[in-house]
Amino acid sequence: MGFEKRILCIGAGYVGGPTMAMIAHKCPQYRVTVVDIDHERIARWNSDDLPIFEPGLDEVVKAARGRNLFFSTEIEREIEASEIIFVSVNTPTKAFGAGAGMAADLQYWDRTARQIREHARSHKIIVEKSTLPVKTAQAMERILTAEDNGVGFDVLSNPEFLAEGTAIKDLEDPDRVLIGSRQTPEGLKARDTLVEIYANWVPRERIICSNIWSSELSKLVANAFLAQRISSINSISALCEKADADVQEVARAVGMDSRVGDRFLNASVGFGGSCFKKDILNLVYICRHYDLNEVADYWEGVIRINDFQKERFILNMLDVMFNTLAQKRICLLGFAFKADTGDTRESPAIFVAKRLVEERATVVITDPKALDNAREDLKELGGEISFVEDPYQACAGSCAIAVMTEWGIYRGLDFERIYRSMSKPAFVFDGRNILDHEGLFQIGFNVFPIGKPGRTHF
Ligand code: NAD
Ligand code: UGA
Repeated sequence: MGFEKRILCIGAGYVGGPTMAMIAHKCPQYRVTVVDIDHERIARWNSDDLPIFEPGLDEVVKAARGRNLFFSTEIEREIEASEIIFVSVNTPTKAFGAGAGMAADLQYWDRTARQIREHARSHKIIVEKSTLPVKTAQAMERILTAEDNGVGFDVLSNPEFLAEGTAIKDLEDPDRVLIGSRQTPEGLKARDTLVEIYANWVPRERIICSNIWSSELSKLVANAFLAQRISSINSISALCEKADADVQEVARAVGMDSRVGDRFLNASVGFGGSCFKKDILNLVYICRHYDLNEVADYWEGVIRINDFQKERFILNMLDVMFNTLAQKRICLLGFAFKADTGDTRESPAIFVAKRLVEERATVVITDPKALDNAREDLKELGGEISFVEDPYQACAGSCAIAVMTEWGIYRGLDFERIYRSMSKPAFVFDGRNILDHEGLFQIGFNVFPIGKPGRTHF
C-alpha cells in the first residue's frame, strides 16, 4: 500500500512513543516510524512488554504496529526516507560546565540536527517536539544549513502538553495543539502541512498557530504556571497546619471562583516528574541571561517552595516520631511521581527515601508499577531498603506508613488489618491526602495529612 506521507520521530521515550502511536492510530494513510539509539528500548516497543506503562497505550500501539507504525534503530535510512521529522529526544538539565544545574543540556538535540543534515537528500519539515529554550529553532536552522547540500528545511515548534498517566486521553482529546512557525511563505506552508495531520482527529479550533518563539516559550510557561499552582497551595498547606485550617477546604473555596479554577490545587508532599523542575530552571536561566533577575527570582520561588515542602514532610515525621527514626521500619506506599505511571523521575519519594536512610530508618518500598525504577534510583544508597510488591506485606511490622503516590488501590486497602500488623504507636503520613483520615484515627493510627493539623492518641 502506498502511504500519503512518511513521518519519522527521533526519540522513542515517554513523548515520542505515545505521540507517534496516536498519529499512526488516527491516520492509517501515513507511515509513521519511531527511531532511537537505545536498542533495548526499541526492542521493547516491538514486544508485548512496552518500555513505558501508560493506561490505554498497549491498545493504541497494537492497533497500528506493523500496519503503519514501526519502531526501528535505523535512524539514517529513516531520515532519508521521511518528509516530516519530529524530534523528541531528551533535554535534561545540564550537569556540567556553564549553566550547570540550570540550563537545558542540548547535546542530544544538537547531535540529531547534525545527523539530519548529513542524511537528508530531499526537503524536510523538522518538528521540535522536545521542550526547548526559546530560540532553539534558530540554532537548529543554523546547524541544518551550515553546509549547503542543496536540501531545504523548515523548522516548526510543536510542543507536547500530555501528562503521564493520562497521555492517551490527552493525545486523543487535547485542550489545544500548538504549532509555531516562521511567518514566511515557506514557514506557513510547512505549518499548514502539520495542521492537516492533527486535523485528522483534533477539531480545527483547538489547533492554534503562533510565531515560533511564542510557541517555544509557551511550553516552558505552561509548565511553570502548573507548577506554580502546586507550590502556591503547598505553601498554604504549611500555614493551614499551624492555623487549624484544612487545605482541602481552602482549595475548594478558592478554586470555585471560576477565575481561579479548581484543578491542580491538590496539596502534596511536592511535585515531581521529569519536566516541572527542569523547565522552570530553564526559564529562570533564560531570564537571568536577559538580566531579568526579578523575574528569575519570582519563578525560582516555585522550586524553593517545592524543596521546602519535601523537607518539611521529613522534619514532621522526625518531630512526631519522638525525634528519632533510627532502626524504625517505615513503609512508603507508592514510589512513582504520580499515579498511573511507572516513571519515578524527580519523584518526591526518592528524596524522602534518601532522607529516611540518612536518619537510619529501615525503608520498605511498595508500588504497583515503579519498583524496577525505584531499585535503580536507590541502588547507590547504603542503608536498609527493601522492595515489596504486596502492600500488606510491605506495611507489616512498620512503625509508620507514608503515602507517596496517589494510586487508587491504596484508598481501598484494609487498614484495620494493616494496623494490627504494625508496630505501635502506628503512624500514617498521607503525602497525597487520599486516605480517610477520620477513619484511620478511629482505628488507632496517629494521622498526619498535608495541610491539616495532625492527630495523635497520646
Ligand atoms: P525520554 O528520555 O523518555 O526519551 C528520549 C529518547 O530520546 C530516549 O529514548 C533516548 O535514547 C532518545 N535519544 C536521545 N538522543 C538520541 C539521538 N541522537 N538519536 C535517537 N534517539 C535519541 O524523554 P521524554 O520524557 O520522552 O521527553 C522528551 C522531551 O519531551 C523532553 O524535552 C521533555 O521535556 C519533553 N516532554 C516530556 C513530557 C513527559 O511527560 N515525559 C511531556 C511533554 C514534553
Ligand atoms: C506535566 C504537565 O501537566 C504536562 O502538561 C506537561 O506536558 C508535562 O508536565 C511535561 O512537560 O513533561 P506530568 O509531569 O506528566 O505533566 O504530570 P502532572 O500531572 O503535571 O503532575 C506533576 C507532579 O505534580 C506530580 O508529582 C503530581 O503528583 C503533582 N501534582 C499535580 C500535585 O502535587 N498536585 C496537583 O494538584 C497536581
